[in-house]
Amino acid sequence: MTTIIRASLAHAAALAALHATSFPEPERWDARAIAAQLTLPGTIALITPPAGMILLRALAGEAEILTLAIAPPYRRQGLARALLAVAITAAREHRASRLYLEVAARNLAARALYDAAGFRPAGRRARYYANGDDALIMARDLGGDLEEE
Ligand SMILES: CC(C)(COP(=O)(O)OP(=O)(O)OC[C@H]1O[C@@H](n2cnc3c(N)ncnc32)[C@H](O)[C@@H]1OP(=O)(O)O)[C@@H](O)C(=O)NCCC(=O)NCCS
Repeated sequence: MTTIIRASLAHAAALAALHATSFPEPERWDARAIAAQLTLPGTIALITPPAGMILLRALAGEAEILTLAIAPPYRRQGLARALLAVAITAAREHRASRLYLEVAARNLAARALYDAAGFRPAGRRARYYANGDDALIMARDLGGDLEEE
């Protein structure tokens, strides 16, 4: 069974370790960077130890997924889908009506995950990432009953 915990500052190192399993060096957030995010208003962090984490921010009626990582040995077991579902509930609890994210255009795994969760393309940022990849902006409404959940 998957246990998803609402993370606090005490989890900053564990969140950073999980982030490091899934992102290359220039994009990694260390424990200090994660702790700084956690102190900002509206930040929500979820962790499913030892497999994965998600960070989002919900403010002023909108929410954004800041990062999502599942450590390689735990992938394709539905954990990202489960974290995303809890994140969506948390964003709704913060009264967000729309949820945004950025994903590398070449990241087909994440794009498939988000597409299946009801996110749709909402923009593109050319050469957004350090390696020159474009970012796609994706978004989904949080109102009403959506079949993807
Ligand atoms: C993208 C990522 C979070 C997916 O995590 P995961 O736990 O393996 O995903 P899930 O098992 O919940 O998959 C849910 C659905 O997403 C899609 N998906 C996930 N990984 C996929 C892959 N490698 N190829 C194609 N589709 C994929 C599938 O539709 C999948 O459903 P299915 O397994 O029933 O076919 C994980 O691969 C990861 O951490 N990657 C590196 C970091 C990253 O890209 N983060 C997102 C940045 S925006």
